[in-house]
Amino acid sequence: GASATLAACSGDASATSRPAASFPRPEPVAPSPGQSVASARLTAAPVTLNLGGRTVQTWAYGDTAPGATLRATAGDLLRVTLDNQLPADTTVHWHGVRLRPQADGVPGLTQDPVGTGKSFLYEFTAPDPGTYFFHPHVGTQLDRGLYAPLIIDDPAEPGDYDLEWVVVLDDWIDGTGTTPDEVLEQLVADGASGTAGMDHGAMTGMDHGSMSAGQDGAPWGTDTGDVSYPHYLINDRLPTDPTVLQGRAGQRVRLRVISAASDTIFAVALGGHRMTLTHTDGWPVRPQQTDAFYIGMGERYDAVVTLEPGVFPLVARPVGRSTGGQGLAVVRTATGAVPAADVSPGELDGNVLTASQLEPDDAARLPAKGPDLTAALTLGGSMAPYLWTINGAPYGQNEPLRVAPGQRLRLNASNMTMMPHPLHLHGHTFALPNGLRKDTLLMAPMESVALDLDADNPGDWLIHCHNTYHAEAGMMIDLRYT
Ligand code: C2O
Ligand code: CU
Repeated sequence: GASATLAACSGDASATSRPAASFPRPEPVAPSPGQSVASARLTAAPVTLNLGGRTVQTWAYGDTAPGATLRATAGDLLRVTLDNQLPADTTVHWHGVRLRPQADGVPGLTQDPVGTGKSFLYEFTAPDPGTYFFHPHVGTQLDRGLYAPLIIDDPAEPGDYDLEWVVVLDDWIDGTGTTPDEVLEQLVADGASGTAGMDHGAMTGMDHGSMSAGQDGAPWGTDTGDVSYPHYLINDRLPTDPTVLQGRAGQRVRLRVISAASDTIFAVALGGHRMTLTHTDGWPVRPQQTDAFYIGMGERYDAVVTLEPGVFPLVARPVGRSTGGQGLAVVRTATGAVPAADVSPGELDGNVLTASQLEPDDAARLPAKGPDLTAALTLGGSMAPYLWTINGAPYGQNEPLRVAPGQRLRLNASNMTMMPHPLHLHGHTFALPNGLRKDTLLMAPMESVALDLDADNPGDWLIHCHNTYHAEAGMMIDLRYT
């Protein structure tokens, strides 16, 4: 039945296929000569959050969601103590950082889960500058609001901007009487009883006409997610009482946009402005002007804009949903009325860029070299049963991918489903055929792409879909060093 299926494909792999290995506490790390140390304390705890006109009970890092931004300089040693005050086991995963495996935060693979009332010291060097975030790697905890930005500054970057705004996007279900775990149980139950197709249509809407002109013909198909979200948030504010980002006309702003969403692709635009994209997943790209861009779960985009005089909507519009609603923040450089919650900036009808339209900055390229080995990475699965797979089987039943230190591995990734999936790699980054570097790539339905990675970080690592519900229902695989 449903619960058996859920147990068999629960993402808490330590409870399923993997023997209950016990991981020793990582050895303390001493800073290397001249290395700076950035220390922080992180408390994961139940909180009451005011989303702006609506108060919810949920879990977060500290008393806000997103939690406070952690900041360090590339090359620093980060020392972050997690205090777990949740009524559940948890961990922290430093999404996108090429860190040592002992700090990667995957229970059953790199550490034991951190129990209630316990703490864990994460120590790692952050080698690459960029826009990152962190979140638990346990169950669906990310979808409750446990996330915060991690910014790694580049000591060599001129920083050609006056202001910086960190913009975190989220789809929000918790605090509505249903927890993300219950949502997952329902998806599994619907899949087992054969009602998934019907519910799925009803939940996500097959109503193509509801998409704006700009998103019509979007590359992601019409069936973009499984969960019906009542709210979309920017920096955890509802559009009825949005975050205000204050600047002055003529200032250059660096936007660091992070998607902490669990099941939603957004199209992002700033009304009255064109954006110049400068980075994706922390890696520099050739500056590319656009009206708007798509961002999948776990992706990051940095953009620079020169502020115009006035009041403007920064909109994150869910793609392929008919339930309505969107994320909104307000950019203000003058007095004037706040835009309406359902404002629709014309930029969303313009060019909405995808990663495949970006070119890498030369500094982001891998050294030219052919692959030493290739491996298939095939995304599959279905709503009924609610089971998502890599290489033909759910996590725990699929064969780990294997690589030797120093090898270049070419992953022939293909999405053999009719849904988009954001494919995420731990502890490494991959290069697309044109050299674009990323750690999370939104793959369109039936898309294939060759991704090259250099095996320069020995350990046991995950590759998975960053749709929380898909990952939890099996869409993960291990990458192991031989
Ligand atoms: Cu943000 Cu394994 O993921
Ligand atoms: Cu997926």
